[in-house]
Amino acid sequence: MTRPRILSGMRPTGALHLGNYMGALENWVRLQDEYECYYCIVDWHSLTTDYANPGQVKDNVLEVATDWLAAGLDPERSALFIQSLVPEHAELHLLLSMITPLPWLERVPTYKEQQQQISEKDLGTYGFLGYPLLQSADIIIYKADAVPVGEDQAPHIELTREIVRRFNNFYGPVFPEPKTLHTVSKRIPGTDGRKMSKSYGNAIDMKDTPDAIRQKLRPMLTDPARQRRTDPGNPDICPVFDLHKAFSPKPTQDWAAAGCRSAGIGCIDCKNKLAEHMLAVLAPMQARRRDFEARPKDVWEILIEGSKRARATAQATMDEVRAAMKIRY
Ligand code: TRP
Ligand code: SF4
Repeated sequence: MTRPRILSGMRPTGALHLGNYMGALENWVRLQDEYECYYCIVDWHSLTTDYANPGQVKDNVLEVATDWLAAGLDPERSALFIQSLVPEHAELHLLLSMITPLPWLERVPTYKEQQQQISEKDLGTYGFLGYPLLQSADIIIYKADAVPVGEDQAPHIELTREIVRRFNNFYGPVFPEPKTLHTVSKRIPGTDGRKMSKSYGNAIDMKDTPDAIRQKLRPMLTDPARQRRTDPGNPDICPVFDLHKAFSPKPTQDWAAAGCRSAGIGCIDCKNKLAEHMLAVLAPMQARRRDFEARPKDVWEILIEGSKRARATAQATMDEVRAAMKIRY
């Protein structure tokens, strides 16, 4: 019996934070029980924005892989690999570029948004326009049945399905249309109340020490109505409470909500309780991380082995693709 296959990818941005964990990784770990999983560190995608300063990419790949292993991605069951070690992704990207109408890429909402947001970099490049097409190649080269991603990636998966239909129309049925497995992610705010993000400088990292975590939570934004300990508050508008919903068991959430509304507890009590549960969730992962941190060679070895496995699958697909496009010699 073969299990359905999924592929997902993450850019090597460096140490992962709790938003990355709750928004993606935790789900990826669970999916290993049901699916044949391919998880890719997409270093070429990093170069679409960081081409002028690629010096961090290699270290970041190791950081991400170490956090993946810490979180419980299991190299025995899942292919954990590096995009550029499977160069067939680039070949498929090239061949897909032949059949991709330019407007399909220009109308992807992330294209113009990111160009405006990241104004300090020149993203008017061929590579950046092709970002979602490279992502399509990542997915379909494994004939993935489904792709676990957040809501923001939906347009990229939709583009992938359109490309698959166009390819199959021209050359015959080679690729299945991948489904989106939406990660129903809880809101994970950073310490300033905005979405947790490395670029906002408001992140709590998976590898932060207990002391660092307590220090980051101490000044964290709460319901501004709670000026004094005796002022009642509203947990529904408090980012600390969002974190309780992600990390604390239900009875603790109820305790925090009731104590907040009645001013029975203070924000310091509330944050201390949160820190306790957050640290308990992170403890087993941090223990695994220390183990892998001590032997980076083994982490690289895992990625190289995973890339070999992924590459065998990708090569088999490319053989079919070349035949379908009449360039198998
Ligand atoms: N664009 C994705 C992101 O920013 C990363 C990515 C690259 C990806 N290739 C992928 C995700 C393939 C899923 C499948 O998060
Ligand atoms: Fe937020 Fe907790 Fe303070 Fe209420 S008691 S405002 S939920 S930190």
